[in-house]
Amino acid sequence: MTAHARPDSDGISRRSFARLLAAGGSAALLGRTGLAFERPAPLPQTPAAPNEAFWRSVREQFLMPTDISVMNAANLCPSSLPVIEAMYENTKDIDRDASFQNRGKMGAGKVNTRKILAEYLHTTPEQIVITRNTSEANNLVSSGVVLTADDEVIIFNQNHPSNNLAWKEKAKRYGFTVTELEVVSPHPGPDYYIDLVRRSITARTKLLAITHHTNTVGDLFPAKEICQVARERGVLSLVDGAQSFGLMDVDLSDMQPDFYTGSAHKWPCGPKETGVLFVNERAHDAIWGTMFSAGRGDVGISRKLEGFGQRDEPAIIAFGEALKFQQQIGMKTIQARSQELAQSLMEQVSAIDGVTLSTSPDPTRSVAVVVFAIDGLDGRGLFNALYDNEKIGVTGRGNGLRISPHFYNLHSEIDRTVAAIKRYKATGV
Ligand SMILES: Cc1ncc(COP(=O)(O)O)c(C=O)c1O
Repeated sequence: MTAHARPDSDGISRRSFARLLAAGGSAALLGRTGLAFERPAPLPQTPAAPNEAFWRSVREQFLMPTDISVMNAANLCPSSLPVIEAMYENTKDIDRDASFQNRGKMGAGKVNTRKILAEYLHTTPEQIVITRNTSEANNLVSSGVVLTADDEVIIFNQNHPSNNLAWKEKAKRYGFTVTELEVVSPHPGPDYYIDLVRRSITARTKLLAITHHTNTVGDLFPAKEICQVARERGVLSLVDGAQSFGLMDVDLSDMQPDFYTGSAHKWPCGPKETGVLFVNERAHDAIWGTMFSAGRGDVGISRKLEGFGQRDEPAIIAFGEALKFQQQIGMKTIQARSQELAQSLMEQVSAIDGVTLSTSPDPTRSVAVVVFAIDGLDGRGLFNALYDNEKIGVTGRGNGLRISPHFYNLHSEIDRTVAAIKRYKATGV
């Protein structure tokens, strides 16, 4: 890391701090703790056909210096300035006066975030639990649904461990059977999976757990149709949305899963350790609470499942800000942008000799998680070289990479990443 981008003790780059001082502080925030960053021009209204200039103004709402290209949204996204500000201002407020009286308003902030979450996911606050992340949300389902030795749970083999490992461990305790369906690569199309699920459900199947958009190869599954098959057969459906929440315009009133889960710190660009569990009202009686404490949620299913004790209320309030920030741009616009960047990446890398794409370039089968192998290159070495020499942050995978661009990335970052890969392909890492 160079001095150019090194964070000071508050995590703010020295360069931003210097620019702030040069600006005389008039366009900046400067708190008593020294937390300081430039306030960019306000986000313009989203044009009908957003161009690179618009996306550059979106990028300016993030602290990322222009010479760092992090395209790793499937793992962790940066928070925008409105989110950081909400975290900072509310934390400062609590720490200045931690009395019950002063903190009372934080409860209203949590109620507000639940409302924003419900609107964002096209559902109602009564069906929303504010969790810490997808892992917790998935585990609230696998621990809360009653399953016995007579029952079967069907999973897809490329689900995340917070889903599949949880089912397998709990099966050891409660005696139910776990049937694992194999995901096929390259993606054979939505009908393949609808049919696979239809053929695999048995009289013993009680629950089906899938991932909407996978972290492994970026497969997009037909969640709505699969949930419909499950519903028709009296089977509960869990859709892990860690890789679709904040990336796609997820409409739960249309998808109709029984359970849907997500994390704020991935594609929604929210704070760490906040997340969501949606529980369809028809499944409210099918799930028991796992965590009980003095506190609980204010409405609907959150009264049963949200007994998590003292929460990080500033983070929950900032979660709402993250969703509002995305809504201001528009979820359909964000999905289209991330997918356009991923499409450009796939087109360019597949033209490099020795590259094999694991992700389907068919836009109905993938969105913005791109995985590929490169003959003769070690993924770990390439991952290190890209960051150490080019300041490009991605994920190393076997003899390849996983690259997941989002709406704060630019076409120029895709192009320079492809150019760097071509160079390392020729020279080695
Ligand atoms: C599909 C999927 N599910 C669940 C998780 C777990 O997310 P978290 O660590 O935020 O709980 C991840 C993380 O990468 C994921 O990709």
